[in-house]
Amino acid sequence: MHNRILVTGGAGFIGSNFVLQGMAEPSVAVLNVDKLTYAGNLHNLESISTDPRYEFVQGDIANRVDIRALFQKFRPDAIVHFAAESHVDRSIHGPEDFIHTNITGTFALLEEARTYWAALPQDQRSAFRFLHVSTDEVYGSLGTKDPPFSETTPYAPNSPYAASKAASDHLVRAYHHTYGLPTLTTNCSNNYGRFQFPEKLIPLVILNACLGKPLPVYGDGKNVRDWLYVEDHCAAIQTVLERGVPGETYNIGGWNEKPNIEIVERVCDLLDEMLPRSGKSRKDLITFVKDRPGHDRRYAIDARKIERELGWRPKETFESGLQKTVRWYLENENWVNEVTSGSYRQWIAKHYSV
Ligand code: NAD
Ligand code: DAU
Repeated sequence: MHNRILVTGGAGFIGSNFVLQGMAEPSVAVLNVDKLTYAGNLHNLESISTDPRYEFVQGDIANRVDIRALFQKFRPDAIVHFAAESHVDRSIHGPEDFIHTNITGTFALLEEARTYWAALPQDQRSAFRFLHVSTDEVYGSLGTKDPPFSETTPYAPNSPYAASKAASDHLVRAYHHTYGLPTLTTNCSNNYGRFQFPEKLIPLVILNACLGKPLPVYGDGKNVRDWLYVEDHCAAIQTVLERGVPGETYNIGGWNEKPNIEIVERVCDLLDEMLPRSGKSRKDLITFVKDRPGHDRRYAIDARKIERELGWRPKETFESGLQKTVRWYLENENWVNEVTSGSYRQWIAKHYSV
């Protein structure tokens, strides 16, 4: 088992869920390197902040000098790389940060990992892993009748975000092929759960619906995404870290394809049950808005490889995961208030006014 894990982007949505899950294992120590962009939030990690097995360092993964020093100081036996710019709409408004973090940052991390790994004693070198967390968006868009994305589906990224993640996947692949760095890549579908920044569909709809604000649905609402509860994604990453074969890629998903409008309606129904709104359904708030440019029509993951070869399966159904998620946002008003001030309001005003 890997016990000294350098996590990048561990203050973000999936990263913080992963760090909390990993730290539940008493033998695990984590060094979390995060730049703390608008998406990074140390409140997610308050419960472990004083644990001697946990350390946080604010830093940019593209800064090779800092990353080199962290490798030398912490001496990890694995790196799990979440740090990224992750929001498709932001990548359309301003792609540059995506190139910096997702491509240059991943390159910097690979270079420093390679140097560190090459100098390890033989037994530690063969046990070392570089796990790169990626997305199904690298495969592009599916037609209604197409089979789901498998690990051999050709890459066809459509947004600047997807293109930057595809570039990083290719770099990771090359570092295994050329230098033998023991890499693993995971390509996962849409996540939902606690700590997700409310620029993404599910938390945005929960918060707007609570406030009686319009629920913006892009285009005709029939774009399809394949949803996975975040803790199931984190368990899958842990499984790949321990049992995955270096150089391989693993698609992760829960066989849960749903059109966006169905998601929004289900969130409304759950909120109407948990927090009734004087006889009116929150579905009245649904508002169809201008479509996202280049909006991919359908994503779907074929998860048979990770199921068959590594024995991973999701624990939550979409219904149980969504109920937990809605309840979490209702019960964590302080977290919500803290992330929805300042720059968040500016983003919402800018993005939804066009
Ligand atoms: P997020 O936006 O919530 O968090 C990203 C984190 O990375 C933040 O804490 C941010 O501060 C940090 N970060 C950004 N730039 C950095 C830099 N230059 N140096 C160090 N830290 C930096 O993202 P997320 O949704 O948690 O996604 C995590 C990873 O999982 C990403 O690589 C993303 O592509 C991938 N992914 C996400 C989903 C999803 O549905 N959210 C699905 C599949 C894959
Ligand atoms: O598929 C994995 C990807 O899922 C990850 O790689 C990304 O990091 C993550 O952000 C997510 O990308 P999406 O673009 O699919 O997620 P988002 O929540 O932004 O949108 C989900 C769907 O809902 C998409 O079809 C666009 C639509 N949508 C989104 C927003 C924010 C709306 O209809 N209205 C909205 O206001």
